[in-house]
Amino acid sequence: MNLVIIGAQWGDEGKGKIVDFLSDGADVTLRFSGGANAGHTIVRDQQTYKLHLVPSGIVSPDKTVVLGTGMVIDPEAFFAELHQLTNQGVLWEGRVLVSDRAHVVLPAYRKLDVELDQQRTEPIGTTGRGIGIAYSKKAMRDGYRIIDILEPEVFDTIPEDDREFLRRYREPLADMVIDVQRFMELKGNKTVLLEGAQGALLDLDLGTYPYVSSGCSAAAGACLGAGIGPRAVDRVIGVFKAYSTRVGNGPFPTEFSPDRDGRLIEHIRKVGHEYGVTTGRPRRCGYLDLVALRYICRSNSIESLAMTHLDVYDELDDIRLCVAYDVGQAGVDTFPASRTVLNRAKPVTKRFPGWKTSLSHVTSYDALPQQAREYIEFIEQYLGVPVDIISVGADREQTIVRRDPWTQS
Ligand code: GDP
Ligand code: IMO
Ligand code: MG
Repeated sequence: MNLVIIGAQWGDEGKGKIVDFLSDGADVTLRFSGGANAGHTIVRDQQTYKLHLVPSGIVSPDKTVVLGTGMVIDPEAFFAELHQLTNQGVLWEGRVLVSDRAHVVLPAYRKLDVELDQQRTEPIGTTGRGIGIAYSKKAMRDGYRIIDILEPEVFDTIPEDDREFLRRYREPLADMVIDVQRFMELKGNKTVLLEGAQGALLDLDLGTYPYVSSGCSAAAGACLGAGIGPRAVDRVIGVFKAYSTRVGNGPFPTEFSPDRDGRLIEHIRKVGHEYGVTTGRPRRCGYLDLVALRYICRSNSIESLAMTHLDVYDELDDIRLCVAYDVGQAGVDTFPASRTVLNRAKPVTKRFPGWKTSLSHVTSYDALPQQAREYIEFIEQYLGVPVDIISVGADREQTIVRRDPWTQS
């Protein structure tokens, strides 16, 4: 069985937590996009793990993880992360595999990434991890794949500076490299969790271009990343926050405005710890945007949703979410491609009473306050997609399952 998990907003939805939670039911977790721009957090057994390249299934003992084909891998960052996992007591040897078709990020790409973004009239606010450069090189057919480092005939054609850097990682990588398509074919009846990075609104095609990342963070990327066809995907789960956040620049129609929502920004940033895992930058915050979320559900065949951060709203008197955009002459409830329209759009909001009580120890849906259930049920109705998992805190124990994505029961 192949279950795809994607971020349904602009990243940082809590994918790491949900993937870790579901990895108990998976034999393999395969990351299919992005690189060290991602920062996936797992909190379990009083330990916090911050992963950038290694799939979030790694913390579950005995499970295999794969860095898939759609990824761009910085070997230096990768081995530093494995070292960090060793320091945290995670035994990863023999459990980490890497696609021979994944691309490589070189140190020079990081510098170039930062320089290019600074030169833009309107910078994107990249993470500076060389991601855009690696994907550009790939598209230009000038990139290096993992297989190219291992094959002497190809390796010898690489300029000496790059070879000097790459040589250090040839041997340790050689033990991990697999043909992902063959691996998926031979896995038999195993259960595979296909872990996305970033969010679908940061996807190069579906997202708020050009304020996006450069990989395929949509569900479609899972197929390329795992060497499978679309019909081999059994289900797509979208992870979203009870509100919205975004790091970096670009349109954000429901962003809180400092004049109107100043205290709300401070509250959410503080209670939700809304600072980037990779760069430490404060995240921009806003209302839950159902217009954008419905667009992402439809364009990714999302049949099941996991909502995170509901607890962050615990203390509020009332809660709002966006049901349409006011774009001047008329309201719209479809997500526009135009950044001019998105920048002009004002959220049309619906108000819900707050529940004013802590959700952090709630373990079943029925035990949630009625106000919280009303908020969730409105979202389900609007989107036409069930919210099967609800997260009420960062710890893996703080998770309410209404329907198990593996068994649908
Ligand atoms: P990812 O990139 O989608 O994996 O998300 P990040 O790890 O970048 O950011 C999510 C942050 O929220 C992390 O610090 C998580 O530990 C934390 N988190 C995840 N789920 C919840 C939740 O339900 N409530 C709260 N308060 N924090 C959460
Ligand atoms: P996870 O997997 C949030 C954003 C950057 C920037 C834009 C382009 O943790 O959800 P890049 O370095 O990729 O060229 O930056 O995309 N971005 C993310 N925002 N979460 C992420 O990953 C992100 N990865 C990239 O902030 O705006
Ligand atoms: Mg993150």
